[in-house]
Amino acid sequence: MSYIKSYMKRSHYSGDVTEDNIGQEVILMGWVHRRRDLGNLIFIDLRDVHGLIQLVFHPENEKLHNTAHSLRNEFVIGVKGTVTSRKEGNINLNMKTGSLEIDVCKLIIFSESDPLPMQINENILPEEEHRLEYRYLDLRREKLQKNIIVRHQIIHLMRQFLVEQSFVEIETPILMKSTPEGARDYVVPSRIYPGSFFALPQSPQIYKQLLMVSGFDKYFQIARCFRDEDLRADRQPEFTQLDLEMSFVEDEDIFKVMEDMFVMLFKQILDIDLPAPFPRMTYNEAMTKYGCDKPDIRFDMQIIDLSTTFSTSNFIVFQSVLINGGSVRCLVAPDAASYSRNQIDELVDIAKHLGGKGLAFCKVDNGDLSSGIAKFISNNEKEQLIAETQAKDGDLILFVADKNETVFKVLAGIRNVMGEKLDLIDKNKFSFLWVTDFPLFMFDEDEQRWYTVHHMFTLPKEEHLSYFDDEDNWHKIEGHLYDLVCNGVELSSGSIRCHLLDIQTKIFNVLGFTEEELQEKFGFFLEALKYGTPPHGGIAPGIDRIVMLMTGAESIRDVIPFPKTLKAVDLMSKAPSTITEEQLTELSLSIKKPRS
Ligand code: AMO
Ligand code: AMP
Repeated sequence: MSYIKSYMKRSHYSGDVTEDNIGQEVILMGWVHRRRDLGNLIFIDLRDVHGLIQLVFHPENEKLHNTAHSLRNEFVIGVKGTVTSRKEGNINLNMKTGSLEIDVCKLIIFSESDPLPMQINENILPEEEHRLEYRYLDLRREKLQKNIIVRHQIIHLMRQFLVEQSFVEIETPILMKSTPEGARDYVVPSRIYPGSFFALPQSPQIYKQLLMVSGFDKYFQIARCFRDEDLRADRQPEFTQLDLEMSFVEDEDIFKVMEDMFVMLFKQILDIDLPAPFPRMTYNEAMTKYGCDKPDIRFDMQIIDLSTTFSTSNFIVFQSVLINGGSVRCLVAPDAASYSRNQIDELVDIAKHLGGKGLAFCKVDNGDLSSGIAKFISNNEKEQLIAETQAKDGDLILFVADKNETVFKVLAGIRNVMGEKLDLIDKNKFSFLWVTDFPLFMFDEDEQRWYTVHHMFTLPKEEHLSYFDDEDNWHKIEGHLYDLVCNGVELSSGSIRCHLLDIQTKIFNVLGFTEEELQEKFGFFLEALKYGTPPHGGIAPGIDRIVMLMTGAESIRDVIPFPKTLKAVDLMSKAPSTITEEQLTELSLSIKKPRS
């Protein structure tokens, strides 16, 4: 066994050896990926970060051959050898270096490997829990390595792009006072001030606005954000934003920077020419046509309002909903009339899972309606229905009747499901969309209070300022708010901020803060607004989601080197974990019995 031998320096990466190197002597380092020991000839696939190449050990050199014989998978080795071309029949078309092999004359074993607790094989993936426990081994897989390298390239290109546009990269604190982004904070106890806590940033929002007050003009940061919220396939408790902010700008300026940046990224990374400017849609239009604020516009299938068509309906389900102020809306699933009862039942279950009471349907057949609720639809309604929906023979119409919020939620979900099932989605397409003009506030029925749709620092539309005077009008106030959506995923959110103290105060009033709470939570920020604040705005694209989109990864965990599980734990290091009694005492903390 040898330690690193300084006289053997790597000359090439395995994946970079080409036919131009034939006849040359090369020195390679890496892992034994696969071995075939034929007794006389020993073949090893050597793997490093750039790829694989085949090594061959001939029996003539007995000492070398014996050492090669002892190699096992995942041993780390260095070899010196001559690049040769493989014989015609031995060429491996699946491998970039498949026409070459290295005729080895020298071998160093740097370290051996125990048999692995999991196989490194792209085709048969072990359970994810197992992979996360041995993440450093999982990261030896080519696909994950590629994702992490693309992530690096994306961040590098973003940084280069912004620096060229005079943005200044500035770090903001990780130990800070809680910023309200709507999720729960991760907190850190202070030893020096018993009973006091720092919060980890949910985003650098307040700091970046303060940097505008300071006069930095254009700021960015590759910012780690921490949010203790319910996790989903595209959410992590710890994630990364490209956080940016600019002074003396309006919405259009932010759109332009983002469009230029995404066009550049897609060209550089995927060689795709994204059409820009990106289309725009108001929040109201997105909700009415697609039932959600992040529509996947790779396919059409819009929601159609049938409340007028069925205003005098005898169908009890529709009637009762309309009397109670709800609506009846539908989707037309093209050429899906052949759906079986079972397939439709499956859709009904999805609708119920999304919070709906059911999903009514009928089919279009010879210009007439059949099955499902067809028998409850009068001739007059039928004519209107076909005219409104433009449904044609062979289509399936799916109806939801409920309060608007539920109708939209269910139909948006069903639309996405049908888009997949009917193969309406072009998987090679990237459909970017700006969703704009969000309402500033919504009312939470359960908690009986107003909350902000994005965050509380957003500038209301000037023409809506008078609505602040009357609570009945608060829901009508729109903000300079915009989301960038791609293929149905919210990639970024941003807004133009309140730079005037009196408008910011109006917003805090709607949210119901007392003067005392305001001073306690935001005193320093409100004070800052008094000393000359430029108009400013910004946005924060979620880097993890961008990498997912650009690599085609299905899980956010596949683009983060050391992710947490959906239950917010790190299976490898077993964090979070308890701390010692001494640490607790030092922090003046005691643990209540965990709730069972
Ligand atoms: P927002 O809270 O909308 O805005 O976040 C911006 C973007 O960050 C990403 N993101 C996440 N990614 C992974 N896991 C999560 N848990 C998670 N939460 C959010 C999304 C989202 O679009 N300060 C504002 C931005 C601003 O106004 O400038 C903010 O944080 O891609
Ligand atoms: P029911 O009268 O409950 O048997 O429902 C008759 C049909 O209407 C069934 O296909 C249900 O799935 C459907 N349905 C029930 N409630 C709703 C609703 N709120 N919206 C749409 N369809 C519904």
